[in-house]
Amino acid sequence: MSNDLGQALERIYGAGATDQLARYQAAMAQFQATYGAHGPLYIFRAPGRVNLIGEHTDYNHGFVMPAALDKDILLLARPRSDGAVNLANVESQFEPFSFTVATEIPIGAPGHWGNYVRGAAQVFTQASGRPSGGWDGLVAGAAPFGVPVGAGLSSSSALTVAAMVTLNTLAGVQLPNADLVQLCSDAEWYVGTRGGIMDQFVALLAQRDHALFLDCRPDAAGHFQTEAIPLPTTHRLLIVNSGVHHANTRNEFNLRVAAGRAGVALLRQTYPHITHLRDVQTEDWAVLEPLLPESTSVAELNAQGLALNDIPGAPADAALRVRACCRHVWSENRRVLGAVNAMRSGNVAQLGALMNLAHASARDDYAISCPEIEVLVGAAQQVDGVAGARLTGAGWGGCMIALVQTEAATDFETHVAQVYGQQMGRDAEFFACQTTPGAGLVLQL
Ligand code: GLA
Repeated sequence: MSNDLGQALERIYGAGATDQLARYQAAMAQFQATYGAHGPLYIFRAPGRVNLIGEHTDYNHGFVMPAALDKDILLLARPRSDGAVNLANVESQFEPFSFTVATEIPIGAPGHWGNYVRGAAQVFTQASGRPSGGWDGLVAGAAPFGVPVGAGLSSSSALTVAAMVTLNTLAGVQLPNADLVQLCSDAEWYVGTRGGIMDQFVALLAQRDHALFLDCRPDAAGHFQTEAIPLPTTHRLLIVNSGVHHANTRNEFNLRVAAGRAGVALLRQTYPHITHLRDVQTEDWAVLEPLLPESTSVAELNAQGLALNDIPGAPADAALRVRACCRHVWSENRRVLGAVNAMRSGNVAQLGALMNLAHASARDDYAISCPEIEVLVGAAQQVDGVAGARLTGAGWGGCMIALVQTEAATDFETHVAQVYGQQMGRDAEFFACQTTPGAGLVLQL
């Protein structure tokens, strides 16, 4: 048994497999202590992700380039003969919960971790037409192996994806992973975030040692173009967690979504056939800019007969910074394409320069940075051997990603930790971006 597990872990984590073994064994022991030793046991995992470049472009049908991390969520499950799902968590702050699988599952208290699992179960049941039976489950995502919560590394998508692959396997439906992407994204809409498909896509379809270049515009058949791109070998991608998680970011996030949709509504007066900002990507910015006001609001748009679709948390009078937000999306898409070329040709300096520019655009145009991240990025960019650094993820705290020459990694950590401690009085957490494949069944016992 442990030989099978060892081989499975080797395939997923490579050199990191040895460190993972004890974690998996502890989770299995806790599962059996909670639900009994008899009966089958399935072990699923779903990774967090880091985004190299392409922030807030996915829901505008643009380009992104994330990678799946070795920081992940395990979901251990045993099928039940009834439709009940009982879920416990190795971390005691996440209280156990239960629900019954159905096509309509009432949502739990706002912010409850179980809502991602409920969302996955409702969406999967509606889509598959084959309700899975229930299961007893245990989630294991504790530090240091788990996806840090609120760090911009998509812990919520990892949980949603872990639940979805569990449902898909236990129901015996075996929808392809490409089909599960949209279901996972829909499940997060159930919870209330109007994000795109980047996190779910990479969590399901990543390859180890590669970033995933993804075009978030589906073709006529609903398929997405992707390319697995090898990571640089002379440099390391280092991730630095600021430890900051600002409150109320879902509303801020949704306001950015609204600003993009407002841009589309306004541009449609000139380009009637567009549906997303991506559709004006080939126009010059100088042509687009005069068509977009610096600021507007849902109320003003409504008065012009331009209705936005339902966006939770976007009050009718909130300012939508349409011009700057659209400029970020437009310019970020070009940077992602430039980054793909730089990676294909091994031009690390160019990749780093694009990361620096992406950070400036995220800060100035999309307004998603914060003082702590500014200190981290500023300190990183001062270090010799750092090709580039930027905030990663949705913003308002979370993590920075830096592209650092392998020999400069120690200087980088020393300098950034010192500056962050001096200026912010906080400790930053450093770890290397070790990539893994996408989610799935690790082992069945
Ligand atoms: C969150 C969302 C993603 C994406 C990023 C920003 O992670 O879930 O869909 O929009 O923010 O790039």
